[in-house]
Amino acid sequence: MTSGAPRVSPRGLEPIETASRDEISALQLERLRWSVAHAYNQVSHYRRAFDSLGVHPSDLKELSDLARFPFLLKDDLRACYPFGMFAVPREQLIRIHASSGTTGQPTVVGYTKKDIETWAALVARSIYAAGGRPGHIVHIAYGYGLFTGGLGCHYGAERLGCTVVPLSGGQTEKQAQLILDFRPDIIMVTPSYMLSIAEELERRGIDAGNCPLRIGIFGAEPWSEAMRQEIEERVGLAAVDIYGLSEVMGPGVASECVETKDGLVLWEDHFYPEIIDPETGAVLPEGTEGELVLTSLSKEALPVIRYRTRDRTRLLPPTARAMRRLARINARTDDMLIIRGVNVFPSQLEELILKSGVFAPTYLIELERDGHLDRLTLNVEWAKASSAGRPSEEAAAHALVHHVKSSVGISVQVRILTPGSLERSAGKARRVIDRRRKE
Ligand code: DLL
Repeated sequence: MTSGAPRVSPRGLEPIETASRDEISALQLERLRWSVAHAYNQVSHYRRAFDSLGVHPSDLKELSDLARFPFLLKDDLRACYPFGMFAVPREQLIRIHASSGTTGQPTVVGYTKKDIETWAALVARSIYAAGGRPGHIVHIAYGYGLFTGGLGCHYGAERLGCTVVPLSGGQTEKQAQLILDFRPDIIMVTPSYMLSIAEELERRGIDAGNCPLRIGIFGAEPWSEAMRQEIEERVGLAAVDIYGLSEVMGPGVASECVETKDGLVLWEDHFYPEIIDPETGAVLPEGTEGELVLTSLSKEALPVIRYRTRDRTRLLPPTARAMRRLARINARTDDMLIIRGVNVFPSQLEELILKSGVFAPTYLIELERDGHLDRLTLNVEWAKASSAGRPSEEAAAHALVHHVKSSVGISVQVRILTPGSLERSAGKARRVIDRRRKE
């Protein structure tokens, strides 16, 4: 078949995706009890941590009892580097991944055969929720290797019955060429790298909006609603969000449904969420924004009990599926910039840059210390190479400074660069350079 609609077959939802709240909670409690006991019995870190707080797996009578148990931090995983956190003998691991982070020891994660099968099933469910069907061609431009993005999506797409094009990140010209040649229906990639690929198509004189892609499954980094709109218009596809983190599994912990695009459905049959106050650690009432804490319910190799993700979000009631949703994760507790005492998240600035209508979605926030004062420079690029119809540089910069001042409350400088000046990402974009920390 060389053209026309792909031959796809129906699959339908899994029973748990339409189960009642009571059924979901009962399954969660049963699995939670298993997971907490498994961690306690097999991993010395958990045994020590639970014993020192005087809690025992048998204290778990209801889901809310989990709040009595200690948190797991990234540093706890680092302290057990490389294989000290595993709950099964090393020989039973069939895969290792690692998350790099920006500093220090990487965290090593591992999977049994069953863990890999669960992961593939959840990514398949996520791609289905995004509108993917067996028979679709899926172009994967998340990095393959120790990063969970490439292989995690790969196994899920194969599981769903798709034809996978495993390109990995980088080689932007080849990405564009194979999109034109293979005509994939779906792309899985970071939103920032999607933009780099769109630019490459445009550089060849092709209207990216006419490319064959119909669905984009974007994640691994924060992105805003304004960015969704920009990508949908520019590439002519439906853009949905996918969330995950290596410590908890990888991509596919939560994923958005294309019919609602209203936040990430958390796959509650495998993960139990809590939202806490990042300062006090107290569990917050449902619907309140705070730090997401996740507990795995079925993982064999690396059970995570109350893992502090540092991601900020809130829990929302179910809509397209029976499971609860996470609001778009557009900030990490450790990404918050404090500018002259005002808390600012990069995503707030992203929204304003895109709303201007004249700047490209590629930007860089630079922070410096000027004497005792913080100075924030927003480096932006004109959206179009041609200056026809653009406001003057002075007027455009002035308007952005004004919008940031009135909606975020800080004074910034704006530096407008020619299109293509800022570094493009082939994976997770670097949005902030903070030079204040060096001083
Ligand atoms: O980024 C896993 C992944 C791959 C998710 C591909 C989605 C698609 P890590 O490298 O361990 O794993 O980074 C996890 O990335 O704690 C969030 O801060 C951020 N993140 C991931 N997905 C999203 C998203 C992968 N959809 C860290 N929105 C997480 C916002 C995200 N942030």
